[in-house]
Amino acid sequence: MKYILANWKMYLREFEQAALCRRANLIKYDAKKLRLVLCPSHFALPYAKNFVKKPNEYGAQNFFWESRGAFTGEASPQDLTDFKCHYVIIGHSERRTLLNETDGMVRKKVAAALSAKLTPILCVGETLDERNSGHALERVREELREDLKGLTAEEIKRIIVAYEPVWAIGAGQPIAPTEAVEMHRRIRETIGEIVHGAVPQAVIYGGSVDAKNVRDFIIAEGVDGCLVGGASTKFDSLKQIVDIVQKYS
Ligand code: 13P
Repeated sequence: MKYILANWKMYLREFEQAALCRRANLIKYDAKKLRLVLCPSHFALPYAKNFVKKPNEYGAQNFFWESRGAFTGEASPQDLTDFKCHYVIIGHSERRTLLNETDGMVRKKVAAALSAKLTPILCVGETLDERNSGHALERVREELREDLKGLTAEEIKRIIVAYEPVWAIGAGQPIAPTEAVEMHRRIRETIGEIVHGAVPQAVIYGGSVDAKNVRDFIIAEGVDGCLVGGASTKFDSLKQIVDIVQKYS
């Protein structure tokens, strides 16, 4: 099973998200081979609920770990499930970097998502400095150790890990597929060490994936799909990506 997860970030206006939720239903693919998951902004979740048709699925880009209370500006796990979300992105590097989201917060979100029966899409990845200084693996291992602390193998089976090297996000140049293969292998190995024998639902790659390069990742060993930002925000390029994944998976 391959995954294409579309992270629309804050790229689109409300009406554009409504239109893309609708138009995405025109993309045809074999749901036994591929899952297409749209992640609009919170404001567009009502459109997702009304317009996204099976086999397409959708999720949110963020949420808060508490279930209800005095948390100004936040959305609870139940708010997402009320909108029939099945997925939620957690620990995206834009949130870790710009909003100081810590591993402690990410861990609480992963646990809250699992309790609410949402599939967490846990993002991990190193900065350019960490990669250039030979610390990429160390950083990713540390994030996994911290973010997955206390979970059982059964719970980890319900998690999608997205390897997103921070320096490749929005850069127009993804990581070399061979490097992604190596990191994905190490991610699986690390998870199996953290919780003996644990295997995540999927390990996917994100960072400057588009219709020109998605094939290279889809055919790469151990890459279960892609988390796509910019290139998922236009119908034509989203469709091209899905068509290519369908063809090569
Ligand atoms: P881009 O595909 O725009 O590089 O973004 C990747 C990403 O951050 C997806 O979560």
